[in-house]
Amino acid sequence: MRVILLGPPGAGKGTQAGRIAETFGIPHISTGDILRANVRAGTELGTKARSFMDAGDLVPDDVILGMMGDRLGEDDAKDGFLFDGFPRTVPQAEALEKLLIESDQPIDVVLRMLVDTKEVVQRLTGRRTCTGCGAVYHVDYDPPQTDGVCGKCGGELVQRDDDSEDVVLNRLEVYRRSTEPLEEFYWGRGLLRDVEAVGSVDDVGDRIIAILREVE
Ligand code: AP5
Repeated sequence: MRVILLGPPGAGKGTQAGRIAETFGIPHISTGDILRANVRAGTELGTKARSFMDAGDLVPDDVILGMMGDRLGEDDAKDGFLFDGFPRTVPQAEALEKLLIESDQPIDVVLRMLVDTKEVVQRLTGRRTCTGCGAVYHVDYDPPQTDGVCGKCGGELVQRDDDSEDVVLNRLEVYRRSTEPLEEFYWGRGLLRDVEAVGSVDDVGDRIIAILREVE
């Protein structure tokens, strides 16, 4: 199964991805996670990406496409994948489509996660992320048992550099300008399905799994 999760920053893509990936036995491929790992490791890719990420702007398409071309070539992506945060521009979607046609691996569904702006600002400014295992918490909606400590690995919980309110507002504007046009792109190809992404994490997950079972 080949799935794209589409939705604004804070829609809950990363939160839902683990369960979806496990249920359908496909790798969760998050461009944000790959980029952050490169920033932490101080690679050339991370150095190129960092200033864009810190400002809440998009990393240039050529950088992303090179990175994702490599990732798609890995063995675990041959029989399916869950993309989280990619594609994010029409040129990225066109390049992905070309790549997948060449390898006869068409996308099965693009899930658009619906949530309003006020809610995503609250979600992102309250998000805390584990520096050890990457687990995601929220100070109000999903607090850790011990303040600042990850319940899964004991790592330190921090606020992502791009989760301050001013950067979040820019990310939302960038989403509207550069990523929303993908809705029409995929609607035109009959691949777009909507899911209400508000409510408990389990309820949203159940709705997503039900849609994916229909297209499986
Ligand atoms: P990326 O990491 O992809 O960030 P994003 O798309 O902005 O998405 P987020 O990770 O912020 O949100 P999410 O939807 O995963 O929400 P989450 O599940 O964590 O990208 C970061 C940067 O990298 C970009 O700005 C850009 O610079 C660069 N980049 C990445 N991909 C790129 C690309 N393809 N092209 C160019 N540049 C690229 O949830 C958020 C919070 O809400 C959490 O605290 C969670 O606990 C809480 N929450 C989740 N679900 C619920 C719920 N149902 N109810 C209550 N709270 C909830």
